[in-house]
Amino acid sequence: MAWSKQRLEETIKERLGGSKLLIVANREPYIHVYEGNEIRCMRPASGLTTALDPVMRACGGTWIAHGSGNADRAVVDEFDRVGVPDERAEYTLRRVWLTKGEEQGYYYGFSNEALWPLCHVVYKRPQFDSEDWLQYRRVNRKFADAVLEEVGEGPAVVFVQDYHFALLPRMLKEARPDIVIAQFWHIPWPNREVFRVCPWQDEILDGMLGNDLLAFHIQYHCNNYLDTIDRTLEAKVDMEHFAVTRGGHTTMVRPFPISIDPEAVASCLPSNLEEVERRLRKTWGIKNERILVGVDRVDYTKGIPERFAAVDRLLTNHPEWKAKICFVQIGAPSRTHIPSYRQLNDDLRAQVEEINWRHGQNSWRPIIFLNEHHNSQQIHAVNRIATVGVVSSLHDGMNLVAKEFVAARTDRQGVLVLSRFTGAARELLDAILINPYAIDDFAEGLHLALSMPPEEQELRMSRMQQQIADNNVYRWAGMLLSEASKLIHVQQSVGELA
Ligand code: G6P
Repeated sequence: MAWSKQRLEETIKERLGGSKLLIVANREPYIHVYEGNEIRCMRPASGLTTALDPVMRACGGTWIAHGSGNADRAVVDEFDRVGVPDERAEYTLRRVWLTKGEEQGYYYGFSNEALWPLCHVVYKRPQFDSEDWLQYRRVNRKFADAVLEEVGEGPAVVFVQDYHFALLPRMLKEARPDIVIAQFWHIPWPNREVFRVCPWQDEILDGMLGNDLLAFHIQYHCNNYLDTIDRTLEAKVDMEHFAVTRGGHTTMVRPFPISIDPEAVASCLPSNLEEVERRLRKTWGIKNERILVGVDRVDYTKGIPERFAAVDRLLTNHPEWKAKICFVQIGAPSRTHIPSYRQLNDDLRAQVEEINWRHGQNSWRPIIFLNEHHNSQQIHAVNRIATVGVVSSLHDGMNLVAKEFVAARTDRQGVLVLSRFTGAARELLDAILINPYAIDDFAEGLHLALSMPPEEQELRMSRMQQQIADNNVYRWAGMLLSEASKLIHVQQSVGELA
């Protein structure tokens, strides 16, 4: 039987019994912002929130996150809680407030200038700053206090997300040995040679071993993690059962490739698609050119300069595509408080300007760079009308935008060009796989995609759609939380002994 929202809801009810379900993630799924005097509710550009919001809507529970919107405080109750997505309140969002100093050190600093480049291995040197590290530790403690408040007295399963909270699991386990703690690490885990440069590696690894279950997207990242532990900490690493025991407590380490809700994507498509396409083409000044599309946060891991360079090379090596194609890049600005991110937005604009000047003819421009936030309806519509979807990350845990492109193709047409360095490349085998560093091959991949006959497009797209339908986000959450819930009774008896 296929996994659906309803099946997940039933499974979780049955498996969790009386235990509460809490999710901790830095990014909140709904952000309230002022627009003049009005308050608007926005969805952030984040694969993590896209994947987990439908899970929480199915299961209910509480999502604990940093309240980052300037109107966030205006809509919460006295306990800093607000029901989301709207008045129907399918689950609770508990907001944690951070000072500017905490946000700078914990989020921009240690999470995104140290751990992010360290784990992605994209030749961006991590910055290790001891003040950032102190703030990171302090904010993990702050979240631990909020989680413990929300847990109350009873049993609970706490599902921690991502690299912002490496220390949180240990803090929770020390305070409450009886609750089940699982963590999903949404980004890659590097090999041990790369990780060992981190000055606080012992504390980070020990913090993560407070989990009962630690999950990555793929087995390779689990192996890297186990290997890192083996070389760094005093712990028993069991390579046969993929488990680590330290101080009498065991952490299971498992792969769970994350996914999306493809039906939700399809149902988000506009019913008047032709009209929407006409409007978009008019706005962008695109006539009958075939559209290639990229959708990303502007981040140096996403391989956007490489992608533009490949379009440039395609037009040089295959000039027959001139005035026949247009690359539309939706690039939501992200983490722009960090200089390298700000710089990347500027560099991309300059690169597009240069390529458009070199190849442009009359009103035709080869690349359109939309350097602003777009909502999911707009994104799915562009994915649906494009001929080619391009995902060229230099390294990525999964890259859910690849799955979203496939899910939007209700016409079973379109070709996905996908970096072989993404988790998605292990599942979407009918994509054209490329190495984003090899610009000539990348350009050939684009040429191949643009030249693919409709029958082959249909065959490949149907197979990828089946893969995603069989392995949707409800299955991901169902399997992961079922695995975690097996430990409910074990942890309760440990708690009684403690
Ligand atoms: C990645 C991370 C997420 C994060 C997202 C958006 O997907 O794994 O944890 O939410 O990027 O980044 P941001 O810093 O804006 O939350």
